[in-house]
Amino acid sequence: MAKVAYVTDVARYSRRQATASDYTPFLVSDTTGVLVTGGAGFVGATLVRRLVASGYRVRVLDNLSTGDAAHLSGVDADLVTGDIRGGRALDDAVAGCDAIVHLAAAGSVVGSVADPAANFDANAAGTFRVLDAARRHAVPRVVLASTGGALIGDATPPVDERSLPKPLSPYGASKLAAEGYAHAFAMTYGVRTVAVRFGNVYGPWCARKRGVLNVFFGALRAGEPIVIYGDGSASRDYVHVCDIAAALQLALESPAIPGGTVLHAASGVETTITALADLCRLAAGRPRHPVEYRPARPGEVGRNFASYDLARRLLGYSPTVRIEDGIPLLWQWFESEVFRG
Ligand SMILES: NC(=O)c1ccc[n+]([C@@H]2O[C@H](COP(=O)([O-])OP(=O)(O)OC[C@H]3O[C@@H](n4cnc5c(N)ncnc54)[C@H](O)[C@@H]3O)[C@@H](O)[C@H]2O)c1
Repeated sequence: MAKVAYVTDVARYSRRQATASDYTPFLVSDTTGVLVTGGAGFVGATLVRRLVASGYRVRVLDNLSTGDAAHLSGVDADLVTGDIRGGRALDDAVAGCDAIVHLAAAGSVVGSVADPAANFDANAAGTFRVLDAARRHAVPRVVLASTGGALIGDATPPVDERSLPKPLSPYGASKLAAEGYAHAFAMTYGVRTVAVRFGNVYGPWCARKRGVLNVFFGALRAGEPIVIYGDGSASRDYVHVCDIAAALQLALESPAIPGGTVLHAASGVETTITALADLCRLAAGRPRHPVEYRPARPGEVGRNFASYDLARRLLGYSPTVRIEDGIPLLWQWFESEVFRG
């Protein structure tokens, strides 16, 4: 099946533009128009390629604050440079669309601590504006990017949709507010919203992010020790961006899923930070590269991974890229796209 070919072929895909032959379009006609907010970012780069290759007309609205037009170079999508908080740009972008995937956000936990008002503005107020534009333009379906770890906080894993949200950061709180508005707009106005809570996403086009993999890869490349804060037992749920893009497309296309639904799209696998460092060292061909342990930093979540049972039942979502395969593929991508200069 084309979908499987896509994921198993992730290495080849990462190094070149997707072509229509990567996918078999399904469930959509080639005239279905999707607006992807934040589509020039890390997740957007993979999602937009996937949607275009599936036969959608894709329009991207992005203010390029953390994204880059180069992420979409050669992709047959309209890129509108504009802000989700600005009335005219948003309205123009939403007009005529059949669905919205809302990715645009200020995604940094640290940034949200430094400037909670700006984070609120982008994520809570920004999502409200996107939903309100969907309501006014009668866009029937909105899929929103949400987060597992930051929104739920310190809970005994695996977390799922019944876990009580207790955000530890303004970023987590802003995503919870966004989910609240998505639910309210589904109940009040009939906009069919689906919030997809991602695990820790990794994969190509992540080079502008400040994630742990970028830091570890940078240390390996520079010949400096990999620094781990704490004893290395802290864990996360690392999910490949191809699996996240698949989950978002499934959420877009599943006709039976009720508005206001919240789902976790994760790997379901707990990976400690020490295990992640080992995978990075192996991928770089330097299994003995030094690792330095430093005192834990305050406020970091300890263990975290999520169950994706509901997404499997409602969407047929199932992750396909094992981290043992995904990390070496990402190292190869860094070597060909980031380290070559
Ligand atoms: N990457 C992860 O591990 C992860 C985990 C959980 C949730 N998420 C969520 O997934 C979504 C995509 O994240 P990403 O990792 O691709 O981040 P990213 O920063 O690479 O992408 C976000 C995009 O939104 C754009 N943007 C930001 N503010 C905007 C605004 N006001 N108007 C228009 N465009 C704006 C940025 O320029 C960027 O292109 C975000 O909502 C993020 O919170 C990501």
